Amino acid sequence: MPKSIEYLGIESSAKAAESACERYGWDRVLQITAEQFDPGERQWDCIVFNEILYYCSDPLSLLEKYAKAVSSAGSIMVSIYQKPGTPLKQRPRRFLSRNRPMSNAHCTKMVHDFIVRHGWRIEEDNLIARPGSAESWWICAAKPCFARLSNAGPLKNLYVARAKATLLRALAYLK
Ligand SMILES: C[S@@+](CC[C@H](N)C(=O)[O-])C[C@H]1O[C@@H](n2cnc3c(N)ncnc32)[C@H](O)[C@@H]1O
Repeated sequence: MPKSIEYLGIESSAKAAESACERYGWDRVLQITAEQFDPGERQWDCIVFNEILYYCSDPLSLLEKYAKAVSSAGSIMVSIYQKPGTPLKQRPRRFLSRNRPMSNAHCTKMVHDFIVRHGWRIEEDNLIARPGSAESWWICAAKPCFARLSNAGPLKNLYVARAKATLLRALAYLK
C-alpha cells in the first residue's frame, strides 16, 4: 500500500489486527468490529468489504452505515468467496462455526439484491475464478445512491403531503 494513500483497516480479531499492523503500519489498522467503528463525518473515496460481510449478522445495515461515509464520487467494493460444492454439504461446517451466521452464497444474494434495490450504480459485478479450480470470488463495486438513502425522509413527506392533498380534494368533491 503506497504511503501516499490514506488507508484505514478495520479488523475485529486482535491477532489478525496485530499482524496487519506489522505489515501496513500501526496507525493504519484498528482492532474494532465494523459494527462498533464510527466513521463520523469523514468521507472516504473507497470502502472495501474484503471477505467480511458473511461474518456479520446484519451485512445490509453495515452497507447502509458505510454508504454514508463514502464521498460523492466514491465507491463501495465487496468481495465474497464463492465456495465450490453444494450448499447442503457446506451446512454442517457452517453450523459448527459460531462466527459465521450465513453462507457465502446467501450473503452474496442479499448484498446483490440490496445494491440493486437501492439503485446503486454498479461499476463491476464479476465472478473471478482461480485458474484450474472451481473456486471463485464475487467482486462488486458500486456507487451508493445517496438520494434514496439520505433523502428518504423528505421523499416520504412529499408522498404524505400528496396523499393529504388528494384526500382533501376528494372530501371537497363529496361536500
Ligand atoms: C476472511 S478474513 C478477511 C481478511 C481481511 N478483511 C483482509 O482484507 O485481508 C475475515 C476477517 O474478518 C474479521 N471479522 C469478522 N467479523 C468482523 C467484524 N464484525 N468486524 C471486523 N472484522 C471482522 C475476522 O476476524 C477475519 O480476520
